[in-house]
Amino acid sequence: MIDIIVGTRPNFVKIASLFNAKNSSLLNFRLIHTGQHYDHVMSSIFFDELGIPEPMKNLGVGSGSHSEQTAKIMLEYEKLLQVSRPKMVVVVGDVNSTMACAIAAKKTGLPLGHIESGLRSYDREMPEEINRIITDSISDIFFTTSKNASNNLIKENIDSSKIFFVGNTMADTLLSNMSSFKKPQLWNSLSLQEKKYLVLTLHRESNVQDYNKLKRLISEIMEVCPFDKLIFPMHPRLTSFAEQMDFSNPRLIITKPMSYLEFNFLVQHSKAVITDSGGISEETTIMKIPCLTIRENTERPETCEIGTNELVGFNFEKLRNSLSRINDSEWKSSQLPEKWDGLAGYRINEVLRTIAQ
Ligand code: UD1
Repeated sequence: MIDIIVGTRPNFVKIASLFNAKNSSLLNFRLIHTGQHYDHVMSSIFFDELGIPEPMKNLGVGSGSHSEQTAKIMLEYEKLLQVSRPKMVVVVGDVNSTMACAIAAKKTGLPLGHIESGLRSYDREMPEEINRIITDSISDIFFTTSKNASNNLIKENIDSSKIFFVGNTMADTLLSNMSSFKKPQLWNSLSLQEKKYLVLTLHRESNVQDYNKLKRLISEIMEVCPFDKLIFPMHPRLTSFAEQMDFSNPRLIITKPMSYLEFNFLVQHSKAVITDSGGISEETTIMKIPCLTIRENTERPETCEIGTNELVGFNFEKLRNSLSRINDSEWKSSQLPEKWDGLAGYRINEVLRTIAQ
């Protein structure tokens, strides 16, 4: 039996294809949810929409400072491992749940696999970069989404026989759910029109901690935004920001976090997306929607090199220039990165079946 660990919204999207891959019945697993994300809109709705099985256990850790959250997850997962031990533990992505369960697993002597390993932004101010480095430094098996990521691991002296370039499970989930995307209610209530609006998402600590900086960014986008509307589904960590700020611009639409099928419908029909999420820059690349990333770096360089993504950071001149090119339909052409073909979950299952069952 293999433990598969999830805790946050992007984790759910990334593991869905393991259960839906065509040979998934061969995989004997136990799904553990750390409870890092716990609101219906941040968690259970993804299980419902993506057909993810009910977790065998929810550790129920909830929110807290980084150390508090990490420590709580380690304590709770260790307790579970003391009463029943899998053959192996598989973690995914770069969130606190990933690192915490990786450490707890290795400390109790279990082999560890990491899905989406080898991504590096080389920016150690990002909590996710610390999570990636620590998780990869103690993993035994490495599943990568790109050759770039595999090469990063090789540079860190990981034995190439332990690295499996399997492709991107987030692409699997997107491709297999595209025909089920759902028109969100606001589509009709706002009379949205195809390619006449932008989508904005922001959640990174570095971008949203300083409310003045955040407000300036939003005002700037609104000022230069040559589109009918800007739709901003807001991460719950921004609730108090929304309450304190007075946005009276009718073109700015702030909504609650959306479900997977509704959010991706909105993205698929948008003119462009402005975001600080790495996962969304992958999804926009797959859907060929222009993406402006409000960061100075990315751990997913292929989204910029061959995809639709461009880093604009907090540089308003770049932002303005990019939006005007998008408005004039002059965005770069793009391609799908290698092995983002819907079969990553299948490939991961094949590897796990041979090594851990
Ligand atoms: C986490 C990940 C980030 C990932 C993001 C996806 C880490 C370090 N960060 O960030 O890499 O891109 O998930 O969304 O693991 N909250 C709720 N309800 C919830 C979850 C969170 O209200 O269901 C609020 C809480 O106030 C909490 C805050 O959001 O304090 C931040 O949540 P947390 O899980 O700590 O980090 P995220 O910003 O979601």
